[in-house]
Amino acid sequence: MKIGGKPYRSIWLGEDGKSVEIIDQTKLPHVFETATLRTLDDAARAIATMQVRGAPLIGATAAYGVALALGVEATDDALDRACDTLAATRPTAINLRWALDEMQKSVRNQPRDKRVAAAYARAAQICDEDVENNRKIGEHGLGIIQAHAEKKGGTTVNILTHCNAGWLACVDWGTALAPIYRAHDEGIDVQVWVDETRPRNQGASLTAFELGAHGVPHTLIADNAGGHLMQKRLVDLCIVGTDRTTATGDVANKIGTYLKALAARDNQIPFFVALPYATIDWSLGDGSAIPIEERDAEEVTRMTGRLPDGSIATVEIAPPGTSAANYGFDVTPARLVTGFITERGVAPATRDALVTLYPEHRKGQGP
Ligand code: MRU
Repeated sequence: MKIGGKPYRSIWLGEDGKSVEIIDQTKLPHVFETATLRTLDDAARAIATMQVRGAPLIGATAAYGVALALGVEATDDALDRACDTLAATRPTAINLRWALDEMQKSVRNQPRDKRVAAAYARAAQICDEDVENNRKIGEHGLGIIQAHAEKKGGTTVNILTHCNAGWLACVDWGTALAPIYRAHDEGIDVQVWVDETRPRNQGASLTAFELGAHGVPHTLIADNAGGHLMQKRLVDLCIVGTDRTTATGDVANKIGTYLKALAARDNQIPFFVALPYATIDWSLGDGSAIPIEERDAEEVTRMTGRLPDGSIATVEIAPPGTSAANYGFDVTPARLVTGFITERGVAPATRDALVTLYPEHRKGQGP
């Protein structure tokens, strides 16, 4: 997508062909700054501190992290150590583990002198595949938005989204936002309700930034406003992303997603989840088994923003010493999900529908 007229991906290979460039998402929306990853530790730190975040981008960064590690030492041990280090950064997004498995498969059987090149090639491929999958998610999701636009006689289609599942969360396009970008580009009148997404405010800082840069009309709302808007029929559909979806269709996504799905169900509003195949955890049949990240309590007791003089400041919002809990994700049960928007098409949130889309995962026919 473009920023200031210049096309960007969220991650790309540096001009030296070794280092990796990212957009430092901890600085957005106030400062657009790129950062250079030169080592395995740089990549692991970028994921852990959320300079890069969003399930697909975490996977892509981890893939490049393996390549950076092998550039120093291309032994089996170094490969395993790199994968262990990267796997430990964030627990919920399955794309991380998927990307590391892909890197293992592409590298381990190569002779040592070919491993670095193989790693960079697979990392680049993971990025390109992500872009193509998200483009297709956009195409399939476009049909859903188009149908709403027709039903409403061409008046505004209001879509609610939670967190940031746009191009900044992926390599390009995004998952939940891809259909919205496509619809907007097709001339469909769309308006996005952007949940602020406490505690880290990915909606306020990233989704609002992305949509604004692309010229998509949007309105920032407090996290708790969604239910009210749905009761007032001001939301036509919800589209969110996911960090891990079980083989049975339970969806882990940013904390607060479940409450939106409950409100949507109570108000008969379609609730769609957009995802590429790498976000499906075929080994899990129940969302309660998904590991839920718990982050630093300070993310809840503090807020960071820009002061009128332009400087960035972090302020306390709770009495000193207040204990806070910071669960990063929640699980929306499949029964609350209207459908999945994938690169292979739209499907109900059931095991049968998922294996129909991905027959290679039918039991006995592959991993
Ligand atoms: O903690 P984050 O910012 O990495 O959480 C991101 C989300 O919850 C996204 O909705 C999810 O990764 C889907 S991204 C296409």
